[in-house]
Amino acid sequence: MADDNNKRARLGFDGKTVELPILSPTLGPDVIDIRRLYADGGVFTYDPGYTSTASCESKITFIDGNKGILLHRGYPIEQLAEKSHYLEVCYLLLYGELPTGRQLEDFEARVTNHTMLHEQMMYFFRGFRRDAHPMAVMTGVVGAMSAFYHDSTDISDPWQREVATVRMIAKMPTIAAMAYKFTIGQPFVYPRNDLDYASNFLRMCFAVPAEDYEVNPILSRAMDRIFTLHADHEQNASTSTVRLASSSGANPFACVAAGIACLWGPAHGGANQACLEMLKEIGSPERIPEFIARAKDRNDPFRLMGFGHRVYKNFDPRARVLKQSADEVLHLLGIDNNPTLQVAKELEAAALNDPYFKEKKLFPNVDFYSGIILEAMGFPTSMFTPIFAVSRTVGWISQWKEMIADPAMKIGRPRQLYTGHAQRDYVDVEDRKD
Ligand code: CMC
Repeated sequence: MADDNNKRARLGFDGKTVELPILSPTLGPDVIDIRRLYADGGVFTYDPGYTSTASCESKITFIDGNKGILLHRGYPIEQLAEKSHYLEVCYLLLYGELPTGRQLEDFEARVTNHTMLHEQMMYFFRGFRRDAHPMAVMTGVVGAMSAFYHDSTDISDPWQREVATVRMIAKMPTIAAMAYKFTIGQPFVYPRNDLDYASNFLRMCFAVPAEDYEVNPILSRAMDRIFTLHADHEQNASTSTVRLASSSGANPFACVAAGIACLWGPAHGGANQACLEMLKEIGSPERIPEFIARAKDRNDPFRLMGFGHRVYKNFDPRARVLKQSADEVLHLLGIDNNPTLQVAKELEAAALNDPYFKEKKLFPNVDFYSGIILEAMGFPTSMFTPIFAVSRTVGWISQWKEMIADPAMKIGRPRQLYTGHAQRDYVDVEDRKD
């Protein structure tokens, strides 16, 4: 990040002027450094939802929302989705460069050797109700990891940070699959280390003791692509939650559990479940105008799920890849006439031609097509967000590691625009009026 001495912003108010340095990123808009604004000017900035605020410096992921570009460590997501695979992208996000063949082999071996859970963690699962949402189970179980893996909770030790990193990437699919098995009343299926990451996850979800699961390479490739496309996305809500939680020095398992909790919301990772449910509710193309009208109605809280994004004011590049994947996967599975995919495509076309969506620059996001693929693979809607959580774990951890190593790191402590009562005196209960 360059602090070009010639570039200064001047902020004038109450007869004074505060000079603020302007920092230039590698890509994207310049950033006004307001760190000394309160000390020098005695004022705060006000930006609910951080629409104009860079909360940190990062070298991991870049998004150009106007052009629909997403880069991980400089590499376009389309190239990674086509040529790479999830564990290689994990390496790239975590360590900054694409691995050599030997580095990749070593990383894959390390992840593979940590896929099992401490056996006693099974009791945790059994403590939940069977009808719990798998995201609720995952939030609890991942948080509980800090009670089981004490040797990787000291964040000041780079080795422990590395062990925690590998553990979480390795165990998250096991936890998500077990959360699923628990909620459907089937026995847990232990990981198998001769399978690749995506195939192992599919098998842990779909095998039963009475009948093993034969991994279909088409599904395994589609699963891996979904993992890859969701791996990181800059300073989104759940990533910012992980960063904020860890800024206090909390252990990484607790912080990732906080990220999972945040991801669950329907405005964020929960949108994939909500989107498929919405597409099913629409049911047939004739009902599309009714739902478009509801989405535009200010008095109706309904929104088109899988549409719109804080950063993308153009196509989400991940949605493009997933739209193509949906076609491919359904075709390969012999379900070319999937009615939900049909509704999705017609809804997309109708929204993209509608002045409301055009004017507000609302385009399909990553959640619009992912659910169709996951459903075709055999997942119930309740597993869509847990799968997002498995994929995003590497993003959370990469951002967490970057933050811990950043000398500018401070505990996150936003200020506020207070509009409550001014100071007043306590009134005894008998003197209060009804
Ligand atoms: N349907 C109808 N109207 C919408 C939609 C939508 N999906 N999204 C935004 N708008 C309207 C919104 O009503 C507002 O209108 P106005 O200016 O008249 O008040 C305008 O567009 C701007 O919306 P906003 O809520 O101020 O924008 P935001 O950046 O705060 O919200 C969002 C972004 C993703 C939360 C929102 O677009 C949304 O709720 N989309 C549906 C949920 C969804 O698909 N979420 C997944 C996001 S991508 C994956 C992820 O993050 O996990």
